[in-house]
Amino acid sequence: MNDSMSPVSRRDAIKAAGAAAAAAAGMPSVHAQSPSTDVIRVGLVGAGGRGTGAMMQSLAVPGSNVKLTAIADISDRSIENALKQAESQKEKVDCPEERRFKGLDGYKQVLDHCDLVILATPPGFRPFHFEAAVKAGKHVFMEKPVCVDAFGARLCLQVAKMADEKKLKVVVGLQRHYDDKYLETLARVRDGLAGNIVSGQVYWNGDRPWFRNRKPEMSELQYQLSNWYHFMWLSGDHIAEQHVHNIDVANWFLGKLPVSAYGVGGLQNRKPDQPTQIYDHHTVTFTYPGGLKINSQCRQFPGGEGRVGEEFQGTKGIVRIGEITDYAGNVLWKFEGKGCKPYQVEHDRLHDAIRRDTPLNDAYHGTTSSFCAVLGRYATYSGKQVAYDKVFALDDRTMPEGLTWDGPAPVLPEADGRYALPMPATFKMTAERQEPVS
Ligand SMILES: NC(=O)c1ccc[n+]([C@@H]2O[C@H](COP(=O)([O-])OP(=O)(O)OC[C@H]3O[C@@H](n4cnc5c(N)ncnc54)[C@H](O)[C@@H]3O)[C@@H](O)[C@H]2O)c1
Repeated sequence: MNDSMSPVSRRDAIKAAGAAAAAAAGMPSVHAQSPSTDVIRVGLVGAGGRGTGAMMQSLAVPGSNVKLTAIADISDRSIENALKQAESQKEKVDCPEERRFKGLDGYKQVLDHCDLVILATPPGFRPFHFEAAVKAGKHVFMEKPVCVDAFGARLCLQVAKMADEKKLKVVVGLQRHYDDKYLETLARVRDGLAGNIVSGQVYWNGDRPWFRNRKPEMSELQYQLSNWYHFMWLSGDHIAEQHVHNIDVANWFLGKLPVSAYGVGGLQNRKPDQPTQIYDHHTVTFTYPGGLKINSQCRQFPGGEGRVGEEFQGTKGIVRIGEITDYAGNVLWKFEGKGCKPYQVEHDRLHDAIRRDTPLNDAYHGTTSSFCAVLGRYATYSGKQVAYDKVFALDDRTMPEGLTWDGPAPVLPEADGRYALPMPATFKMTAERQEPVS
């Protein structure tokens, strides 16, 4: 598929996300049938911390006949570590040397040996891996964010549609959608306990993130792939990489997508010997249809007060996840469930949907929420109010075509070893695509 295919409109995406959400929330399906007991062959692309975790969760789905059959990574060490962890489930592992693929193209070979693929590389690769997986007819678990630019967002929405046409199941690692506490809170909001939501705040404020040092044998590209978090073309900046979770909750609870974003951000608090190409703080106001505003903050400073979560104000009360109060502080509802393990539940649901052939496709909301985080980044980098539809149409592919292990890096450090940062005074939007986007 290429980018000239007819795009999926924002309206289509919202509609499809609603249907997928109903399926993900475990609502009964008219298609329910006896589950298949066939083996599900699982392939892993990107065997780092999260990929390995997701692989273990896929192997641990209760009662599922499952085998790990293939792994791809650009690092031998990651592959070895993942297999080492999988030893605790060794009866479910059939991944000999010839099905361990090293290199940037390894994902293609993994797709020849699995029914379900876990995509957990740095997010810059995700739209292209997702496209290849669905074209190859594979079910997908993919980590968030699913794109780091508008180009990737458009591609993911097209691939989401293709997955539906092929009846493939897709789960995105926005695990709050599989968390009872979130689901029950949302049910109370939908029941009207807090009245109409009129505003909200979402946060991912914490400490400095990890930083991987350059090794002497690494080329500039290999260094960037290893220290991917700090490069926008790979991570999308931390507003996309982490804060997507909370921006996604706002879209989900409101049942709407923003029409524009306006914000401020910068780089203030990294260690001097850790040059980075991303900001360490962003604060963005997202405006939704009708004028409702959601304020978003994400920062990575040591000290200060950490805050990760969401809050919404309604005409009758305040919504915090797990609790709704009125404006006098009286508790209207409190979550009393035991809680669940959403990282596991998302895999349980995915296997169940595959076995029963029931609809499950998170790629619509996974994409629109990832794109909203990208929109927020455009707002802070440009210092301008940016419209969803305009940014969605930008010709802004950041992943180089034909990337090779020994090839050049798409961004280079300056003479002092630092990377240029986007600044509102000089930031330029890429041109819009020529073809119309509906
Ligand atoms: N849902 C969550 O709560 C959650 C938590 C952590 C991470 N994540 C997401 O998971 C993804 C991976 O994060 P991580 O923490 O595991 O990072 P990581 O650095 O630990 O792992 C990434 C792995 O991908 C490999 N890799 C890089 N480029 C590759 C390519 N082109 N092909 C194959 N392998 C490649 C790396 O060698 C590494 O082993 C990110 O998108 C991140 O946002 C989600």
